[in-house]
Amino acid sequence: MSIFQKKRGAWGSRLGFLLAAAGSAIGLGNIWRFPYITGENGGAAFVILYLFFVFAIGLPVLIAELTIGRNTRKNPVGAFKKLFPKTLWKWVGALGVFTGIATLSFYAVVAGWALGYFIKTLLGDFNQAITGAQSETIFSQFSSNPLFVIGLFFLFILLTAVIVKEGVSAGIERWSKILMPVLFILLIVLAVYSMSLEGAGRGLEFYLKPDFSKITPTTFAMALGQAMFSLGIGIGIMITYGSYLSKNDHLVGSASIVVLFDTVIAIIAGLIIFPALFAMNMDPAGGPGLIFNVLPSIFAKMPIGTVFGGGIFLLISLAALTSTISILELPVSYFIDDRKWSRKKATWLISLIAFIMGIPSALSMGASDYLSDIPFFGMGFLDMMSIVFANYALTIGAFFISVFVGYKWGIKAAVKDIEQSGHKFRLKAVWAFLIRFICPVAIAVILGYIMITGNYLN
Ligand code: ALA
Repeated sequence: MSIFQKKRGAWGSRLGFLLAAAGSAIGLGNIWRFPYITGENGGAAFVILYLFFVFAIGLPVLIAELTIGRNTRKNPVGAFKKLFPKTLWKWVGALGVFTGIATLSFYAVVAGWALGYFIKTLLGDFNQAITGAQSETIFSQFSSNPLFVIGLFFLFILLTAVIVKEGVSAGIERWSKILMPVLFILLIVLAVYSMSLEGAGRGLEFYLKPDFSKITPTTFAMALGQAMFSLGIGIGIMITYGSYLSKNDHLVGSASIVVLFDTVIAIIAGLIIFPALFAMNMDPAGGPGLIFNVLPSIFAKMPIGTVFGGGIFLLISLAALTSTISILELPVSYFIDDRKWSRKKATWLISLIAFIMGIPSALSMGASDYLSDIPFFGMGFLDMMSIVFANYALTIGAFFISVFVGYKWGIKAAVKDIEQSGHKFRLKAVWAFLIRFICPVAIAVILGYIMITGNYLN
């Protein structure tokens, strides 16, 4: 039986939960978005800010979300309604549900590219040595073919929907046990290879040696948003996943492990992309196509590059799938719980909406002159979706969740829930301080500045 179809609080085991939560967190956010946002925002100095936000805001809010979920055993809207009925708090959950659908719409487009690149690699498209410029041409031809991008996007949404409709079977937990370590090993081998390329040193310098003059207030907003997106917090995915947790789970320990893995994978992704990128004289601010431009030119040079390239794109696609499953599960759980829809109806309808919403993103990388030429806030449509939803909507959500736990529901009630497993929450004073002061104040200052100055882009 599926973990989602069982009664609430029914993750198979602690490992099952850990794998699902890590699977949700680790995905395109780490491997695709982290390098391109780092590249656009000046490198190492951005990475330092990112790490700060992951631990000072990401981890505390993740713990807060899991606690709300476990305590209420509800979807994000239902959770706020259960704790404080007839208040406006349910709208924080509603923002999350909407953001989830919007995020799925562009995320699955990029996941479709990864799937397409898996097929292209196996077909031998990257068999002979190619330069960075050739690799860029291949990507722009690929991403401007409407049949490919829409078809692969559709396929990815369909795959996600089929799994969510059936519920995530124990099989996925078993797979993840093998796939995640394999992905990890392949990424490390790739990073070592990339760092050994001639000219890699400049990339490492860009990535690891901070130039603080590159930091602007907008860099703070980008780093904050990236931290929220990569962990998948602020929209209630982790409230939903927390609602399937049992009372005995060591929530803080599990949250810390998820954050650690998620961060390590992102850092390794940067160690692959930046050395290779500089070795091939490519532009670090290459935008959403960055990894698709850089990775094939590495494989083309490597011994058994086809096997390697195929393996890595397959694993990226699967890592994206474990994330899209959790993103779709968020709105689905709301419509099942609160609107009494069947799982089947909720899954198909929401997937259809996400597919329709995602078509402009799919066509915005060259497939439609209209969408490619018109800048949305000065950038392409997909880039705009990634900034508005992945960056800002999640950050706003994280602000409200920290205010909710810090001031409305209260630290005492939350800590009581956290400690019911019998595990003492040793750092509860630090957590309370971060949730009550650092999270809301830092987010308010950063977003306030962005709103006043209108500098919402890099
Ligand atoms: N947290 C998910 C990811 O990083 C959305 O891909």
